[in-house]
Amino acid sequence: MLETRNLASYYGDFQALFGIDMYVDHNEVVALIGANGAGKTTAMRTITGLLPCENDMVLWNNKPIGKIRADQVAKLGIAMVPEWRQLFPSLSVEENLKIGAQSKRSGIWNLNKVYELFPILGQRRAQGSTTLSGGQQQMVAIGRALMANPDIILFDEISLGLAPIVINQIYDALPDIISNGLSAVIVEQDLNRALKIADRYYCLSEGKVTLSGSADTASRAEISQAYFGI
Ligand SMILES: Nc1ncnc2c1ncn2[C@@H]1O[C@H](COP(=O)(O)OP(=O)(O)O)[C@@H](O)[C@H]1O
Ligand SMILES: [Mg+2]
Repeated sequence: MLETRNLASYYGDFQALFGIDMYVDHNEVVALIGANGAGKTTAMRTITGLLPCENDMVLWNNKPIGKIRADQVAKLGIAMVPEWRQLFPSLSVEENLKIGAQSKRSGIWNLNKVYELFPILGQRRAQGSTTLSGGQQQMVAIGRALMANPDIILFDEISLGLAPIVINQIYDALPDIISNGLSAVIVEQDLNRALKIADRYYCLSEGKVTLSGSADTASRAEISQAYFGI
């Protein structure tokens, strides 16, 4: 469904990704793992059109979309939950959620469904997003992605800076989200957690895929090596 072919990405003269080949099938959960600076965020930002690349480096249902603008990528059904949530601080919970619906795709997700998934957001719907805890803000970021009724969600650092109890709440909600036919790419520092929820994984190091495979049979020793690009 989603595929990258020889994906390269640059910040000016600095090359951050060097020919990444990855794919995500329908209803598949793929973990993207790797040390800080490996290129995980860059890969997600390039796929979603926030960073430029060649048109044929990103394929969506076999069609090249590398040169498509970010708002158009969202309309195709690719949503992202960005690192550090990136909510609009001046907007309420509900207004932030409605931003996700701007891509006007139809599907099962709407405000009520999001409030069912995360009841605390329903109680806080009129509050400014800055008054929320980090965990609640992450729920808004996830809800905002769901409001787009995407076919795939890219979760960047899903548990970054969150308390363990909140991380559990978020992970408890994931099966409900994914069981509705969604695919997902998950960036997560906790390797065991990532491999538990994923079907397959890709390990990135210094902008290259150093290892990939099925999450069930993944060897922790091999992954730690690939992680540091040894
Ligand atoms: N805005 C930026 N400008 C220049 N270099 C950047 C920028 N963002 C990230 N980089 C560099 O790109 C590489 C990959 O970063 P990133 O994708 O953020 O890694 P990860 O998400 O795996 O921690 C790193 O070397 C990082 O320093
Ligand atoms: Mg990152």
